[in-house]
Amino acid sequence: MYEISLKNNKKFSCDDQTTILQAAKNNGVYLEHSCLSARCRSCVVKVLQGKTVNMQDELVLSEAEIRENYTLSCNAKPVSDLVLDIEGLEGITLYEKRIFPSKIDQITKLTNDIIKLTLRFPPSANFKFNSGQYVNLIKGNIKRSYSIANRAVHNSKLSFFIKNYENGEMSKFWFEDAKENDLIRVEGPLGGFFYRESEHKNIVFLATGTGVAPVKAIIEEINCSPEDFSTKTLFVIVGARYEKDLFWEPEIRSNIRLKYVPVLSRPDENWNGAKGYVQDVLLEQNIDLSKTQVYACGSNDMIESARRLLIEKKLPENQFYSDAFVCSN
Ligand SMILES: Cc1cc2nc3c(=O)[nH]c(=O)nc-3n(C[C@H](O)[C@H](O)[C@H](O)COP(=O)(O)OP(=O)(O)OC[C@H]3O[C@@H](n4cnc5c(N)ncnc54)[C@H](O)[C@@H]3O)c2cc1C
Ligand code: FES
Repeated sequence: MYEISLKNNKKFSCDDQTTILQAAKNNGVYLEHSCLSARCRSCVVKVLQGKTVNMQDELVLSEAEIRENYTLSCNAKPVSDLVLDIEGLEGITLYEKRIFPSKIDQITKLTNDIIKLTLRFPPSANFKFNSGQYVNLIKGNIKRSYSIANRAVHNSKLSFFIKNYENGEMSKFWFEDAKENDLIRVEGPLGGFFYRESEHKNIVFLATGTGVAPVKAIIEEINCSPEDFSTKTLFVIVGARYEKDLFWEPEIRSNIRLKYVPVLSRPDENWNGAKGYVQDVLLEQNIDLSKTQVYACGSNDMIESARRLLIEKKLPENQFYSDAFVCSN
């Protein structure tokens, strides 16, 4: 057994067969993460003292980061005691991951290549989650991750925005074979993409494609306690290629200040709105990034570009939260 110490003096033990992230969880300590498969970088952490080895080959850290002792806590196991440059998150109730049966309630076409899927649970299910989290949906022997597109209401139906990936195994099921009442197993809840209370004045959501799903869930949650957000300004910046790909916009209670900006990367000549990429459009808002929290969800390219750019422009590093829709195959 090795001892792992965090910046806030929290300590937990971990054996040499368990990842740092899993050991933290086993000991009731929450560390940032998302994909759990060494692809999205959400769990990156600097090792200040001690040594780790990787469970599987790791391809997302740069050579410089590896030299500076950064590692992915979802993929690294200790080979000595460790001191990590990270604090565990406190004050949030996280629900245990389990597998629940569910049935397809409805499938609705939203755009040429995006559907809305609704699942319902049997009355005995007791599925709980935090608004913004994702689950794995299991059909036969295929399992893929999808973000829940509604706020957390006990045992309510779950909705998802699902994209059709070319030659995708699960996409084929959703877009060609799936029908009402089909049985789907739901594994979750998973991930750390949920709202964190803070003093920051601006709350920014950046989303591309079906990445609007958890943003919608968090905004529905915010709508339930508008008084907590009366001094804040929300920015929702949603990116798509063409206007026909935009399928959702935020609805907000009137006393919350919200700026919604749809952005197209390949607009036609009739488009009068913002053009380009969501992170550049955020900079055009001229807000003080040092007083801002950013939640980014969608393609990994967007998330990595946004993270680099915004941190360079003075966004505090620990105020960038993301859920990268990396390939979950
Ligand atoms: C945390 C998380 C949350 C997610 N939430 C959603 C969501 O809400 N809605 C949604 O539509 N998808 C979401 N995804 C992506 C989803 O899990 C699947 O990867 C996607 O649906 C493709 O599965 P598939 O079986 O159709 O394709 P596969 O059979 O897995 O792959 C087919 C082809 O598509 C490519 N591909 C697969 N997935 C991606 C990807 N994400 N980006 C780029 N290329 C890809 C593969 O490289 C391959 O060439 C999420 C992924 C993660 C990790
Ligand atoms: S890389 Fe570790 S959670 Fe995604």
